[in-house]
Amino acid sequence: MKKKQKKSDYAKMQGRDFLSVDDLSIQEIKSLFELAADMKRRPKKYRKALDGKILALIFEKPSLRTRTTFTVAIQSLGGTCVDYPPGDIGLGKRESVYDIAKNLERMVNGVMIRTFGQDIVSSFAVYASIPVINGLTDFEHPCQAMADFFTIAEHKKNIKKLKIAYIGDGNNVAHSLLLMAAKWGASMYVATPPDYAAEASVVQHAQDIAQKSGGSIIVTTDPIEAVRDADVIYTDTWTSMGQEAESIIRRNIFKPYQVNRELFSNAKHDALFMHCLPAHRGEEVTDEIIDSPNSVVFDEAENRLHVQKAILLALLGD
Ligand code: CP
Ligand code: NVA
Repeated sequence: MKKKQKKSDYAKMQGRDFLSVDDLSIQEIKSLFELAADMKRRPKKYRKALDGKILALIFEKPSLRTRTTFTVAIQSLGGTCVDYPPGDIGLGKRESVYDIAKNLERMVNGVMIRTFGQDIVSSFAVYASIPVINGLTDFEHPCQAMADFFTIAEHKKNIKKLKIAYIGDGNNVAHSLLLMAAKWGASMYVATPPDYAAEASVVQHAQDIAQKSGGSIIVTTDPIEAVRDADVIYTDTWTSMGQEAESIIRRNIFKPYQVNRELFSNAKHDALFMHCLPAHRGEEVTDEIIDSPNSVVFDEAENRLHVQKAILLALLGD
C-alpha cells in the first residue's frame, strides 16, 4: 500500500458503474486500495479532485454509515450531494426507475442507490448515462466489502494466507464478502443456519473465481468448523432491513450462531472481529467480543470513507 499512486491505474474506471464486487478485477481493487490509502494519509491533496461534481444519494432504507461517508467523501473531494431519504422519490412507485434515471443523468454526475432488489440498481445503471454505485441491496453490499478488505489489509500481512469466517445470515454482506475473498485468493468459510445459506449461484461463482486465484470457499452449517483457527471472524445482523417481521423467529434460529467468547476461542488468538454495523449487541455478537481489542468494527466504518473517496474519484473523475 506504500507505492505511489499513478492516476492511470484507476483512470480506466471512469464512467463505470459499481453494482457488485464482481464489477472489479483484483488489479482494480488493489489499485483502488492504493489510492484509498493515499487519500487516508494525505486527504488535503485531494481537496479539489472532484471540484463541482454532484452526487445523488437515494436511500430506500435507513443508513448512518453509508449516508455519512458518501456525503463526507464527495464534499471532501470538492463536490456536493443531494440526499433523498426513504419514502421521498419512490423509486419505481411515485415515478418509474427509467424516468428517475433519465432526469438525474441531466442534473448530477453520479448516483448512489440503497434499495431492495439488485434489479433496481442494475436497470437504473442501464438507463442512466452516469455512474451508478450500489449502496446496499438485498443481494450485495459491495462498498462495505471494499472497506472490510481494506481494513483486513491494514491489520494482516497477506490476505491470500488468511482464513476468513463469516457467521450468520447468508445474504447481501456475505455475498459481497464471498466474491471479494475469492478474488483475493483467501480461504473463506460461511456458516449459516440451513435455510439461510448464501445463494447457490453466488457460492458457485465465488468457487469458480477461487479456483483461479488459489483461494477456497466452503459453506457449512457448523459455526465451530468455520471459526476454527480463523484469522477473521465476521458477522452481521440476523434481521436485515426489510425483514423486521421475521425478527422473533430469526432470533431463535440464529442463536447458535452468536459470536461470543466461547465461539471466538476457537479462532487464532489475534483473530480480527468484524461487523458491518449496525450491531445488535447481545444477539449476533456479545459486548465482550465487539468491545475487545480484537474488534476492528470502527476501523471498518471509518474506512468506508477512504475507500468510497477512491471509488468516487475513479468513477466520477475527469
Ligand atoms: N454498514 C452500513 O452500511 O451501515 P449503514 O446501514 O448505517 O449505512
Ligand atoms: N445485512 C444488513 C446490512 C446492513 C448494513 C442489512 O441488509 O440490513
